[in-house]
Amino acid sequence: MTVRKVPDVTFRTRVRDEAIEGPNPFRWEDKTTADYFAGKRVVLFSLPGAFTPTCSTFQLPDFEKLYGEFQAQGIDEIYCISVNDAFVMNAWGKSQGLKNVKLIPDGSGEFTRKMGMLVAKDNLGFGMRSWRYAAVVNNGLIEKWFEEEGFSDNCDTDPYGVSSPQNILEALKAGEAVAA
Ligand code: BEZ
Repeated sequence: MTVRKVPDVTFRTRVRDEAIEGPNPFRWEDKTTADYFAGKRVVLFSLPGAFTPTCSTFQLPDFEKLYGEFQAQGIDEIYCISVNDAFVMNAWGKSQGLKNVKLIPDGSGEFTRKMGMLVAKDNLGFGMRSWRYAAVVNNGLIEKWFEEEGFSDNCDTDPYGVSSPQNILEALKAGEAVAA
């Protein structure tokens, strides 16, 4: 079986810089796929939008709470990616009081498109967004893959379960090898 690699892209993030005066002390910082994935075993999960109800009430807070359990399973980082810009992702992270999960802004959707996970959500006025999925990624190689059923454009429903932190932890504990 061919092991898939996460695509090489550059993410445009915004980081705080105390050297900048004024009410908005942030600057652009480009981060590459290698910056996030090289030499680490991580869980990546992707969702349709920052601030949306299931993502904000269950998925992101549950990953945040269960971070210690993921570490115990040999996971170095948990990344949440969404087709949203850095301003939106930073505001979402702040509102969630995140300490553990790191947010990755895929504002242009390039990473999501190259993962084959970009779908239209015009039925919600969202434009192109990510289908829900998660993966265990080891040094850039996809080791386990968790994709919600029904991949489609303008899906009427928002399936959530396979890519939940509880399901991924269960698979990690069982040592299931599910390559993409
Ligand atoms: C949700 O997370 O609940 C959600 C996601 C996308 C569209 C609408 C709701």
